[in-house]
Amino acid sequence: MSGIHKTYHTGSVQAHVLRGISVEIKKNEYVAIMGPSGSGKSTLMNIMGFLDVHDAGEYLFDNRPVEGYDEEELAEIRNKRVGFVFQMFYLLPKMSALDNVKLPMLYANIPEKEQEERAKQALISVGLEDRMHHKPNELSGGQQQRVSIARALVNEPKVIFADEPTGNLDTHSGNEVMEIFTRLNREGKTIIMITHEDEIAAYTKRKIIIRDGLITSDEINHSQK
Ligand SMILES: Nc1ncnc2c1ncn2[C@@H]1O[C@H](COP(=O)(O)OP(=O)(O)OP(=O)(O)O)[C@@H](O)[C@H]1O
Ligand SMILES: [Mg+2]
Repeated sequence: MSGIHKTYHTGSVQAHVLRGISVEIKKNEYVAIMGPSGSGKSTLMNIMGFLDVHDAGEYLFDNRPVEGYDEEELAEIRNKRVGFVFQMFYLLPKMSALDNVKLPMLYANIPEKEQEERAKQALISVGLEDRMHHKPNELSGGQQQRVSIARALVNEPKVIFADEPTGNLDTHSGNEVMEIFTRLNREGKTIIMITHEDEIAAYTKRKIIIRDGLITSDEINHSQK
């Protein structure tokens, strides 16, 4: 990203939220984005993950300017090349863990049997082999977040974006979630996550701090947990 700007317009009010963000994140990095509430972290992550668009500056994904991707390619990227994990989990309450994890494959043209197998493997990989048929309200917060990680993994994305994934979790569940991210990073995934907690950022290898829409600090974490 180079010189990325974003302004939100709400009625007559304008908020210049990103004011020239320049950053390069390479394959297999493990990055924490920190900064005060309202500084633009989620806005930046949503642009990085193709959930929103910037209005000035240049963004290259896989070395290609995002303006050059057509709608079909963007849909493919959103569905298969990036995975999202959010603070609020966003699981469908009436569906089992297994069915929630199958959702991203709905439009991926994958045979039912393979969908089932891949969803099971994803749930096993986050330690939920014995909770597959539970509904979200029958799971703890940490388990629900692990279901949402399995859902993010099921189409085998290269990049995982996580916006305060431990924000609603107790310390123990938060650490469990971070151990999963650390393992995924060792297995080759690029992980970019927002957090307010230093203990959570300590798991990552690089810490970027944003204030008022600008990067004010970008450092390697030499003592990764
Ligand atoms: N869709 C939107 N429309 C208008 N303003 C928005 C929109 N999304 C965010 N904002 C504003 O942009 C600013 C940055 O929001 P953003 O969500 O990126 O902050 P953040 O750093 O993620 O904060 P937090 O730590 O509280 O999650 C805030 O002032 C917010 O009110
Ligand atoms: Mg946010």
